[in-house]
Amino acid sequence: MGLLLTLFFLCLVAFTNAEISTKIGVNYGTLGDNLPSPARSMKLIKNLKAHSVKLYEPVPAILKALSKTNLEVAVMIPNQVISNISSNQTLADEWVKTNLVPFYPKTKIRTLFVGNEIFSFYGDQDKKTWFDLIPTMRRIRYSLKTHNLRKIKVGTTCAMDVLQSSFPPSNGTFRSDLALPVMKPLLQFLNKTKSFFFIDSYPFFVWSENYPKISFDYALFQGSTKYTDPVSGLTYTNLLDQMLDSVIFAMAKLGFKDVRLAISETGWPNSGDIDQFGANTQNAAIYNRNLIRKMTAKPAVGTPARPGVVIPTTVFALYNENQKGGPGTERHWGLLFPNGTAVYEIDMTGDTPDYEYKSLPTPTNNQPYRGKIWCVAVQGANVTALGGAVKYACSQGNGTCDAIEPTGHCYEPISLVSHASYAFASYWMQFRSSGGTCYFNGLAYQTTRDPSHGSCKFPSVTLSVV
Ligand SMILES: *[C@@H]1O[C@H](CO)[C@@H](O)[C@H](O)[C@H]1NC(C)=O
Ligand SMILES: *[C@@H]1O[C@H](CO)[C@@H](O)[C@H](O)[C@H]1NC(C)=O
Ligand SMILES: *[C@@H]1O[C@H](CO)[C@@H](O)[C@H](O)[C@H]1NC(C)=O
Ligand SMILES: *[C@@H]1O[C@H](CO)[C@@H](O)[C@H](O)[C@H]1NC(C)=O
Ligand SMILES: *[C@@H]1O[C@H](CO)[C@@H](O)[C@H](O)[C@H]1NC(C)=O
Ligand SMILES: *[C@@H]1O[C@H](CO)[C@@H](O)[C@H](O)[C@H]1NC(C)=O
Ligand SMILES: *[C@@H]1O[C@H](CO)[C@@H](O)[C@H](O)[C@H]1NC(C)=O
Repeated sequence: MGLLLTLFFLCLVAFTNAEISTKIGVNYGTLGDNLPSPARSMKLIKNLKAHSVKLYEPVPAILKALSKTNLEVAVMIPNQVISNISSNQTLADEWVKTNLVPFYPKTKIRTLFVGNEIFSFYGDQDKKTWFDLIPTMRRIRYSLKTHNLRKIKVGTTCAMDVLQSSFPPSNGTFRSDLALPVMKPLLQFLNKTKSFFFIDSYPFFVWSENYPKISFDYALFQGSTKYTDPVSGLTYTNLLDQMLDSVIFAMAKLGFKDVRLAISETGWPNSGDIDQFGANTQNAAIYNRNLIRKMTAKPAVGTPARPGVVIPTTVFALYNENQKGGPGTERHWGLLFPNGTAVYEIDMTGDTPDYEYKSLPTPTNNQPYRGKIWCVAVQGANVTALGGAVKYACSQGNGTCDAIEPTGHCYEPISLVSHASYAFASYWMQFRSSGGTCYFNGLAYQTTRDPSHGSCKFPSVTLSVV
């Protein structure tokens, strides 16, 4: 009896380990107006040798295309519908019936995310969503059972800002507005349902915000920099491990030291704006290749706080997506260009050694740019859209567009593009420090060439040594 029981538990353990994949997934974002069809995307994903695909919405055409593949699939319930479902089981059932049942089991749906980074928004409506999350997760799980969709785990994705402190890793603590009211019940749910804590984790941002304190090699999993946490005594050789362990320590503080961790997004941008740095093809290739090799290593490497434990990982993203707003990096996370060509060679099985990859151009933007930058209008931009953007830019701030009034120094030449350039430059000079970007839906770009002429001086942003 004793032996049988032991064997039974051994099998259980073996099964649980086998179920967790060391294979790598890719985030299939669709915020582009020039992306390949779902069918062509399947071929491209196969060429990358990805094992799974994560979607941000249950797009029927994509779920259908996925049914013809062996790819495991993660689907997401959009943030806006969480609150309604939380108080109505019928709505949960309807969501599952409409969005999942028609595709399951042919499409190998394995994960259902209830919301995307919902704790990173702070409005009143958003806060309501925080507290509606767990009830919705419970209702959805119940609906999955009702419809006999038994292989689907329920989770939610979190950004690193769910932590109030993350350094040193042993100091990892959830934000006080979340810890007891939301994180604890979330962890209880994840523990009980054997799901994962899904974290979106980007060393790129931590590295660039802490430049030059954090070494470049440490962020890219190379070189010999080491950091020892003075409290835990654990030694780190890369930034990602440090970030992941801060989450593990935060979970442990709430009493959930064993909830499994998965990375729902990580990656490195392959390009960006002049005022960003470190975003280039070479760094993106190094980061993602090293990441994939680390996460697919056998036996599993894990992190210093959880050595040997598999961390399922999904890289962001499949494509460069041209309809995303914000700084230039936002539109350049792709492994592929929108035409389907690889931005750099990558093998998502992790089996290809570095020497088999073609060498890449040496980056020129690994250090911050120092000097003046102007934000100007794109030549040949859509005139209607440009007019609207100028109106918006000029309505912000104080005297933003005085110089392009008939009495101003920059009134001439009287052209929309010229006036738009001044308006964008003036807007960006005032608002960059508070998060304003030089983009205007693709109508503006940064330049180091001074557009000033005659007595018309264009406002600029000056980047100097920090
Ligand atoms: C939520 O329910 C309210 C009331 O029935 C409805 O007006 C609203 O459109 C619903 N929201 C969503 C996102 O479905
Ligand atoms: C739940 O949603 C269904 C479908 O929209 C609706 O018919 C029903 O009235 C709702 N129930 C409650 C209690 O709001
Ligand atoms: C640990 O985190 C707290 C905030 O939660 C912070 O005040 C403190 O400085 C951190 N400790 C170290 C050593 O950074
Ligand atoms: C859930 O928590 C219990 C108690 O801490 C732990 O033994 C178990 O491993 C946890 N399970 C998961 C899947 O997190
Ligand atoms: C695909 O797009 C990239 C970036 O615009 C370009 O460099 C490349 O030449 C294109 N490839 C093909 C086959 O058109
Ligand atoms: C130009 O922009 C306007 C307003 O944004 C839009 O309605 C129109 O379709 C655009 N025209 C072209 C040719 O893209
Ligand atoms: C514009 O001026 C007003 C009054 O001096 C001031 O309160 C406001 O903060 C200014 N706005 C900006 C964007 O500088």
